[in-house]
Amino acid sequence: MKVLITAGPTVEAIDPVRFLTNRSSGKMGYALAAAAVKRGHSVLLISGPSALELPEGVDFLPIESAAEMYQAVESQITKHDIAIFAAAVADYTPTTVADQKIKKTGNEMTISLTRTKDILGSAREVMGFEGTLIGFAAETENVIENARGKCLRKNCDLVIANDVSRNDIGFDSSENEVTLVYPDREEALPQDRKDHLAYHLIELIEEL
Ligand code: PMT
Repeated sequence: MKVLITAGPTVEAIDPVRFLTNRSSGKMGYALAAAAVKRGHSVLLISGPSALELPEGVDFLPIESAAEMYQAVESQITKHDIAIFAAAVADYTPTTVADQKIKKTGNEMTISLTRTKDILGSAREVMGFEGTLIGFAAETENVIENARGKCLRKNCDLVIANDVSRNDIGFDSSENEVTLVYPDREEALPQDRKDHLAYHLIELIEEL
């Protein structure tokens, strides 16, 4: 099958030398891409900046900002059977990007932010994707409840929920502990290495 995977952080420029980003390393998304190739799928990885080596056999589209990720996904998603959104996409981006480095002035400064487009939330109705749609939910509280809300609102077949308040799993860790949240039920998986977990997740997603 043809699998599109988003991974890593997005980077939102403030001025030529500064940006807003998050702690995503890309490990979860890259592990899913490697596992999907191992399972014989054709994989397109759309990723924000990551220090990781690209898994062998993966087609790669590098992006920086949430807007670039939106465009990349929009142009590719309907060519795929499965789409898995593991990227940590900025929900807000600076409203304007300064042409020159912003100089120090008073003791405080305010940066105005504007909502980015929800890529996962646009996959079905805006982009017309009819394949298997898998989201992630990075939560610090009410993990299952929030993930189910995302699953239903964004018309996903499955949302993979992780608790990102923990240091030993989630962002930038080699392990993760996730709960599979379907529209009508959930299943908790034990903590495991991201590469092992990714292989198991790809097997489960194939069945969907
Ligand atoms: O990269 P690692 O260091 O390995 O960390 C892995 C991870 C914690 C980043 C990963 O497991 C994870 O949880 N990814 C989703 C992070 C996230 O942004 O979650 P969210 O709950 O804010 O977003 C929900 C879903 O909507 C996600 O599938 C996200 O990709 C998607 N989204 C969010 C905002 C946006 N503008 N567009 C989107 O498509």
